[in-house]
Amino acid sequence: MKLLITGANGLFGSKLAQMALERGFEVYSSDLEAQSNYGTPLRLDVSNKAQVDDVFRRIKPDVVVHAASLTDVDKCEFHKGFAWKVNVDGTLYIREAIEREEAFLIYLSTDYVFSGEKGFYVESDAADPQNYYGLTKLIAEEIVQTLPEFFIARPSVIYGAIPAAGKVNFALWLIETLRRGERVKIVKDQWNTPTLNTNLAEMILEVAERRLTGLYHLCGATRISRLEFAKAIADAFNLDKGLIDKVSSSHFSWPAKRPVDSSLDTSLTQRVLKSKPLPLEAALAQLRVELAQI
Ligand SMILES: NC(=O)c1ccc[n+]([C@@H]2O[C@H](COP(=O)([O-])OP(=O)(O)OC[C@H]3O[C@@H](n4cnc5c(N)ncnc54)[C@H](OP(=O)(O)O)[C@@H]3O)[C@@H](O)[C@H]2O)c1
Repeated sequence: MKLLITGANGLFGSKLAQMALERGFEVYSSDLEAQSNYGTPLRLDVSNKAQVDDVFRRIKPDVVVHAASLTDVDKCEFHKGFAWKVNVDGTLYIREAIEREEAFLIYLSTDYVFSGEKGFYVESDAADPQNYYGLTKLIAEEIVQTLPEFFIARPSVIYGAIPAAGKVNFALWLIETLRRGERVKIVKDQWNTPTLNTNLAEMILEVAERRLTGLYHLCGATRISRLEFAKAIADAFNLDKGLIDKVSSSHFSWPAKRPVDSSLDTSLTQRVLKSKPLPLEAALAQLRVELAQI
């Protein structure tokens, strides 16, 4: 099966490319600079329609995992035109090419499509994004949903052993900072369902193999506040929890509003997929093993 990945240099895309190769997929790993070490590296800016069309014509993929996105929520707030170009126009170009080449699209959305007032959202709950990033991802979902068949995955706070190019995810940042003995301020009033990139990649590969369709919450199985998540990471890596100071989110003045509780209910995913969303303790145990192997 020919698998084309967009955003293959990212935190999720890089892990997906690695694991897809191990599972026998023919992997085409596209990103802005053709930097991937896994599969055939390709240069692809999803906001460039001519490039999208050219790559699809040359590769003729069976399945496309569209993970490329401007993921910096504050940058999206400041640079709305740019965020629209990448997250909305980019998805539109991918969707058009999918239809033309008769490929199957798996789109990576986000828990930030929700307002965060309720928490523990199910797939059928109404979306109401609180920031521009969430809005662009929701509009992209709507574009994808105009295809006769598609899969939309909503993860939440992705973390993992592989740092995406030039970026360090929350878990790695916390581990490194606590190891240096430095204090950290972590918010106590934001809830999510954090997602280990390996667990997400495992679920996405099953979706690709089974060609499952629909909209699913593909994230970790545990709803937790950012503060408790930080403490759980400290425990799992034998680090000093005393270095973690709890603060409320009003302590930070972020340009983009964050949903208070965008945690996702994974009951549907638990029922349908063979590879299950991992509870936090199991995911952190897996992260420990993966970090030890690097
Ligand atoms: N990270 C999270 O906590 C989280 C939570 C929920 C949902 N998601 C969604 O899950 C997906 C994967 O996220 P991730 O954590 O792997 O994010 P990531 O590490 O930021 O990866 C996204 C990748 O897309 C690339 N990209 C940006 N603009 C592009 C363009 N015009 N053309 C091609 N590639 C472009 C980025 O490159 P540069 O780094 O060079 O910009 C980056 O490598 C995204 O769709 C994201 O919206 C992420």
